[in-house]
Amino acid sequence: MRVLVEDLETAAGARLATSWQAPELAVIVPSYNERDNIPVLYDRVGAALEGIPFEFIVVDDNSPDGTAAVVKEMARRFSNVRCIHRIGRRGLSSACIEGISASAAPFFAVIDADLQHDEAILPRMYAKAIDGDDIVVGTRYAGAGSTGEGLSSAREAGSRLATRLSSLLTGTKLSDPMSGFFLMRREVFDEVAPTLSKDGFKILLDIIVSATRFRTRADRTLSIGELPYRFRARQAGESKMSPLIVVQFLGLLLSKLSRGLLPTSFLLFGMVGGSGVFVHLAVLWLTHETMGFNFTNAQLTATIVAMTTNFVLNNELTYADKKLRGGRFWIGLLSFYVVCSIGALANVSVATWIYSASPDLFLAGIAGAVMSVVFNYSVTRVFTWR
Ligand code: GDD
Ligand code: MN
Repeated sequence: MRVLVEDLETAAGARLATSWQAPELAVIVPSYNERDNIPVLYDRVGAALEGIPFEFIVVDDNSPDGTAAVVKEMARRFSNVRCIHRIGRRGLSSACIEGISASAAPFFAVIDADLQHDEAILPRMYAKAIDGDDIVVGTRYAGAGSTGEGLSSAREAGSRLATRLSSLLTGTKLSDPMSGFFLMRREVFDEVAPTLSKDGFKILLDIIVSATRFRTRADRTLSIGELPYRFRARQAGESKMSPLIVVQFLGLLLSKLSRGLLPTSFLLFGMVGGSGVFVHLAVLWLTHETMGFNFTNAQLTATIVAMTTNFVLNNELTYADKKLRGGRFWIGLLSFYVVCSIGALANVSVATWIYSASPDLFLAGIAGAVMSVVFNYSVTRVFTWR
């Protein structure tokens, strides 16, 4: 027998319904080491959203500063607070995706925990969404918006460059696609959730590119609104932005450019492989020319060093979300050596086969290299970074 949700009018449910109001808006707060900021943020968001039933969902990646314990303490006192406490995982985009998916509210907003985003514009963002916008973006680069004291001049230049690059590559006309502050209808998210990349920081850009494509295929438009705000300086703690995040962002752009055909992790794996060629040549030169190794030993050393740097970079970058540590690091490294050696055999056999069919040196060489990247990527996903 199928039970319909409408049939669940039990006495307990009815009692609950009088004291509990279903949230209209979920405020999703990704957090890593933000213990001192979150209570302040909750206070300010509550004041801003007076009259709008909202829930406050913090997604914390087991921060060493004990953020999760603070949020759980809050959740014991305030019924609209929840903590999604993730263990053994890291990542801003994946944290947002998980928080959004955990809520059933028809609208949700994503806001940083560090008080850099101006929560005072939340009610206007919400009103715009009620009025029909699918996504409302808090922007630093339009109207009265500004980066204020929120970004150093170097980071501001980087942010503007990334904005230009992403409009170029994805065709979005947004003034601030790098924003981490936005509010949207849940159904728009649900349409594209399976295609979103879990890596990196740029969830908004990812959602917009995917949703625009989805809507275009369905012959519907996506309405995006913008509201300017002044980006503030971080309150407590420090930023988690790093060169790693920047490379992950490039991977995301390329992945979107291939219409998701090539996953971000594959592109990052390929970029790491490319860096391995340089490491290899450098070590080959160093050991052969300056340390007097014979060619075979120099080549062997270069191969091992390049495989090792590739492993470390993939572990930090491509698979930052399932980074291997301690004993698992060494077992992973061994399995990586084994897979890459088999990949090298695959490389040589494919190249030889193609070369025998049509003796084009570059074609055969590139085909062999592509073969080993594809092979190493697919197999290490199964054996090394499960
Ligand atoms: N759960 C989780 N896991 N949260 C994270 C992680 C993580 O691995 N890394 C960062 N966060 C949280 C932080 O705690 C913070 O609440 C928010 O994500 C933004 O991180 P910051 O470290 O403060 O980044 P930022 O200020 O340098 O970057 C911000 O500005 C960029 C534009 O310049 C973010 O809003 C970006 O999304 C935005 O693009
Ligand atoms: Mn910040």
